[in-house]
Amino acid sequence: MQASIRIFAGLLVSTVAALALYQVFQPPEAPAQARQFTSSQECAQCHAEPFREWQDSWHSRSWTDPDVRALSNDFANTDCIDCHAPRPVFETGLANRVLPRAARRAEGVDCIACHQLPDGGMAGTFDRPDAPCRPQARRELAQVEFCAPCHDQHKTVTQWRASSYAAQGIGCIDCHMPYRNGDPNQGRDHTMHGGHDIELVRKAVALRAQRSSGAVVVEIENVGAGHHFPTDERSRAADVFWRPKGETAWRWLYRFRSPYRHEVELTDTLLPAHATHTLRIEDENARGALEVALFYKLTPYWKTPAAPDPEAEAKLVHRVELSP
Ligand code: HEC
Ligand code: HEC
Ligand code: HEC
Ligand code: HEC
Ligand code: HEC
Repeated sequence: MQASIRIFAGLLVSTVAALALYQVFQPPEAPAQARQFTSSQECAQCHAEPFREWQDSWHSRSWTDPDVRALSNDFANTDCIDCHAPRPVFETGLANRVLPRAARRAEGVDCIACHQLPDGGMAGTFDRPDAPCRPQARRELAQVEFCAPCHDQHKTVTQWRASSYAAQGIGCIDCHMPYRNGDPNQGRDHTMHGGHDIELVRKAVALRAQRSSGAVVVEIENVGAGHHFPTDERSRAADVFWRPKGETAWRWLYRFRSPYRHEVELTDTLLPAHATHTLRIEDENARGALEVALFYKLTPYWKTPAAPDPEAEAKLVHRVELSP
């Protein structure tokens, strides 16, 4: 009895010792196989939600977008390739303009362009060397500097810096990448709405009209954009029109827009964050009931602000009525 206990105890000791030795000589946990990703399609398998949202976004269409193809002459203007089919932002660095890539251009501004680090890992919010895509914590991904290599060409980031949003620490992703279902644990929506979403454009501005000493005073206030309105792409414009109630033709009043460089006769009339622009209608036809409306256009192909039918070429943002 006593002997068998001793044998058992001896066996136990040697097993523990052998296990300890095995522990000591075991090589440290090997990092995951450095998997190289050659297409953003590969991310879909494990990140279905961001993938679906990205497919729905204009980032995924930046190479195929018909308006970009038309304006760049099907990318015969090679300057246009840089940001519309870019190499990874972290490769060129956040302070620099991105460089064009040669492969898989159809994927546009894709997962790899935004997330891939020079060592092949993915910029994220934590370090997980054992995960297949090797995420690494990179605070810069959530900062405005990350959008700047592509979005400051038309000064959107510079406009933001001059606004009170910068002082409050409300960055690009707070408005353009809200948490899914408002829950910080569910990650951020990659759809990144902009000018193509008229509901977002509606939140950017307020339109008011009132009578004051014989004239109609119209006010347009930037209440919701974290930068000038309408920002970025120079083909965007917002036009104020009015018409006496019952008439069909709109009368043009004012255009908010940043001109192309060759349009030397025009000045920049974008509306800064929180600013209000005031206009007066001093027309005898404005004494009766009237309507005032703000329209938003996306493309460069609607050239004349005085177009008689903005409804056919632009989208209605807001409309107010005024009694006599
Ligand atoms: C420095 C980066 C950069 C370069 C270079 C660039 N773009 Fe863009 N482009 C952008 C960004 C960012 C947007 C999105 C901004 C917006 O929608 O207002 C955009 C949007 C556009 C749009 C609007 C797309 C739409 O769906 O309405 C057109 C058209 C366009 N670019 C054409 C061009 C052309 C033509 C060139 C070359 C002459 C060019 N871009 C070069 C960054 C760039
Ligand atoms: C075979 C599965 C798999 C593939 C393929 C994959 N990942 Fe991941 N990824 C993971 C796992 C597992 C994690 C860590 C846990 C988690 O976030 O769910 C992760 C985490 C991440 C994170 C960090 C998330 C955070 O909250 O900070 C990012 C960013 C990321 N992946 C991007 C990508 C991109 C971009 C691709 C494609 C180029 C990709 N992944 C391909 C499995 C994968
Ligand atoms: C235009 C840049 C951009 C593109 C394109 C992009 N991401 Fe992201 N991604 C971000 C930013 C910014 C965050 C937020 C980081 C933070 O909160 O710190 C993020 C967060 C994530 C996360 C963390 C969890 C979550 O859902 O928020 C994952 C995973 C991820 N991205 C995967 C992808 C995949 C997969 C693709 C392609 C289908 C993709 N991303 C495309 C910029 C981008
Ligand atoms: C690598 C370049 C690049 C980076 C980085 C980038 N973008 Fe973009 N973004 C683009 C281009 C190019 C377009 C225009 C796509 C098109 O319509 O052709 C665009 C379009 C957009 C749009 C307009 C969508 C619409 O409705 O037209 C928004 C909003 C946007 N980006 C937000 C962001 C934010 C926020 C960040 C930072 C988290 C960011 N982007 C980072 C290149 C980039
Ligand atoms: C307080 C919320 C808010 C913040 C912060 C904000 N935006 Fe916006 N953004 C908007 C609204 C609202 C619009 C629609 C009105 C417009 O086009 O200006 C918009 C539009 C855009 C567009 C679409 C332009 C187009 O032509 O389609 C781009 C690109 C953009 N923002 C980029 C950025 C970037 C980059 C930052 C950070 C520097 C940023 N935004 C910060 C609210 C915000």
